[in-house]
Amino acid sequence: MFRVAALLRTHDDHERATDLCCDLLADPDLDPALAVEIRRFLSVGVPDWHLVILRDSPRNAAYDAALRAVVKPGMRVLEIGTGSGILAMMAARAGAAEVITCERNPSIAAAAREVIARNGYADRIRVVNTHSDALDLDRDLDGRRADLLVSEIISNNLLSEHVLPAHEDAVRRLLAPGAPVVPARGAVRIALVDDQREQARPLAEVAGFDLSPYNRLAPVVRTARPNAAGVTLRSDAIDLFDFDFAGARYQPDEHVVACRSLGGRVTGVIQWLWLDMDGQGGTYENRPGPEAFSSWSAIVTAFPQPIETAPGDIVDVRGTHDCRNTELYKA
Ligand SMILES: C[S@@+](CC[C@H](N)C(=O)[O-])C[C@H]1O[C@@H](n2cnc3c(N)ncnc32)[C@H](O)[C@@H]1O
Repeated sequence: MFRVAALLRTHDDHERATDLCCDLLADPDLDPALAVEIRRFLSVGVPDWHLVILRDSPRNAAYDAALRAVVKPGMRVLEIGTGSGILAMMAARAGAAEVITCERNPSIAAAAREVIARNGYADRIRVVNTHSDALDLDRDLDGRRADLLVSEIISNNLLSEHVLPAHEDAVRRLLAPGAPVVPARGAVRIALVDDQREQARPLAEVAGFDLSPYNRLAPVVRTARPNAAGVTLRSDAIDLFDFDFAGARYQPDEHVVACRSLGGRVTGVIQWLWLDMDGQGGTYENRPGPEAFSSWSAIVTAFPQPIETAPGDIVDVRGTHDCRNTELYKA
């Protein structure tokens, strides 16, 4: 039966493939090795952060508050990126008459449909298993543009999950003119940083050998948990890039910003996220600090050499983005 499921998937019949796998997993006598194989099959293309983000209460609360502020009774909401269905259900709970939500991964779409049905929202939420670019106004939205767009396709660097091209396309083709978007804006926020985590320190002597030439293979960019010990901000925060998610045409861009040091050693620059959730004052930020908690990581870009700074020293940082990625350098 598992082979039949695999065959169904090769014919794009994801729904029946998933149903078969779920039936198999319900069998108490199922061979444990086969059970592992089936579970892997079901979660292909689903990195483990999919479950991690759902345990991020500040993230969830920021979206819930924004949707409660922006959704008006009777609205038709479009979501890009269903995941578990949590944001679509929040929108429905906030009063949306109808939510059309698209999810490119078939296993995720199938699981979301089940979650949504279990929570009693199947009559108001429709999951379309497709990439947002392939949504069709007539076929998928009954020919009527949505009154609100919501998405959480935001990566650690803001852009790598392709929020800009997805929004640019959806706002132009599928959203009513001037309709609100959640989040409304997003910024790449940066500061100078001293990264003294063990993995960020250059290698010297190891087991009696000088490994210093190996340092040239060290990663330039490292993620950091927002509350990572050993990561110290060395300047105030500055917005490097700021995007209106409701629109326009996005273009690659480049900025140089002057970061005023608070003093001390600077090993690089750290970036994190700032979101204007609803355009009405509700914001979200995963600013690094000892008390910070977020499923989104900050990103540290190391300078070629650490620099010693005095309070007030200016360090210029150059940032570029190509709408899908960011790069930071010491200017
Ligand atoms: C970060 S998860 C968020 C899921 C859920 N909305 C939440 O907030 O918990 C993003 C989801 O969107 C899907 N996705 C990303 N870009 C998409 C696109 N342009 N069209 C359809 N699905 C997309 C991914 O497969 C993933 O399941």
